[in-house]
Amino acid sequence: MSNRRGLSVCPPEELVAARHRDPYPYFAWLRAHAPAYREVSPSGLPVWQITRYDDVRDLLADPRLSKRPATTGRACPTGPAGLQDNLVNADPPEHTRLRKLVNKAFVPAQVKALEPLIQATAEDLLDRMPPGTADLIDDFAAPLAFSMIRTILGVPDDLDTPELRGMLLDTLTYDAAGSDGKADLDRRLHAYLAELIARKRREGGHGSGDLLMHLIAACDEAGNLTERELIGTAYILLLVGQDTTVNLIGNGTLALLRHRDQLDLLRERPYLIDSAIEELLRYDAPVRKATFRAAAEPLPLHGTTIPAGDVVSLVIASANRDPDRFERADELDLTRTPNDHLSLGRGPHFCVGAALARLEGRIAFPLLLRRLGHIELAVPPESLTWRPSRVMRGLTHLPISWTSPAVRRGRPC
Ligand code: HEM
Repeated sequence: MSNRRGLSVCPPEELVAARHRDPYPYFAWLRAHAPAYREVSPSGLPVWQITRYDDVRDLLADPRLSKRPATTGRACPTGPAGLQDNLVNADPPEHTRLRKLVNKAFVPAQVKALEPLIQATAEDLLDRMPPGTADLIDDFAAPLAFSMIRTILGVPDDLDTPELRGMLLDTLTYDAAGSDGKADLDRRLHAYLAELIARKRREGGHGSGDLLMHLIAACDEAGNLTERELIGTAYILLLVGQDTTVNLIGNGTLALLRHRDQLDLLRERPYLIDSAIEELLRYDAPVRKATFRAAAEPLPLHGTTIPAGDVVSLVIASANRDPDRFERADELDLTRTPNDHLSLGRGPHFCVGAALARLEGRIAFPLLLRRLGHIELAVPPESLTWRPSRVMRGLTHLPISWTSPAVRRGRPC
């Protein structure tokens, strides 16, 4: 990347070195100096990082960016081989067909009907927490989110969910696995999902209303879905249906613990919960980059041209902190309005599970504040670690402690 005077520009080493833990100074530098920045990925692919709000917003819905390697000539699909045939990696008309099949499970009325179950599951998880200290990720956020997506899909209760969750998370840090590790993971996850689908077929239950049975019927009866699309769709829903919400609860709680005035504000004015959820989504985006797209034709941007076929990474977390769009963009302000963050995407690939994610957050945060009383980080902030994913931003663990005795379910705080 060169600037207008033809000088080559590179982000400062110290920002690059710190960007996994704290990407925001690095993003601020890119927005100011190289808003369309060409990086080379560890596998040698050029990847253009787009970091300004207006560009990310417009390009999320721009048909000149394609998901299909067949169109772009470059492979950039999300997920392991054999599981990539799903809506995230599709352009219209395939995308429209696949999206219609899953939309039905996430319409507002269906999501609203889950509210009592989300509430009861969250209360149960808090009942089971050890007294005084816990890992908010493993003991609360992950089991809550996983339990909801498995209910929607109809994954039987007796399946080994820690094993499944482990494999799904490993696909996010795929590059680190090496080619033997990748092949093994692909095989195990594929076999697991194929067996899950075979079991659903054996056990029947077409009238059960769960999403997996609906997709199986679309495959077996209506011919609207191929077998590869069926397994690829099961994979992507199980993955994004939980890890994203885990990150909302984890990143959001950490942000509140680091901004005690905002935490107190939410405790004092619980009616702020809807704007609080939007601000927590904006402030530390659970999905920091959109899934990869590639230029289907040469794309002029900021005095340079992204060649057809190059991979383009739309950096949502950077757009959300763009001071040209948001006043005091680096501040957490639970009363912020308007708040046009891009954390749930935009355009045809806008998040299918947006209503579910918001509802889970709407239940989880007030419940944590009410049940746990005075919450603190149980470890020094610098010892927290972030999972090494290219797309997601989430903590591996969030150890918390609380000094007030946990309030039992149903009692006011
Ligand atoms: C706080 C939680 C969540 C966040 C921040 C989030 C964020 C996003 C974003 C940014 C996209 C667009 C990606 C792109 O354009 O490349 C997306 C798409 C998607 N999300 Fe979510 N998501 C969340 C929760 C969920 C949940 C609970 C589900 C439930 C299954 C879900 C399912 C999906 C699916 C299937 C897509 C792909 C849609 C398509 O390609 O048409 N998400 N999400």
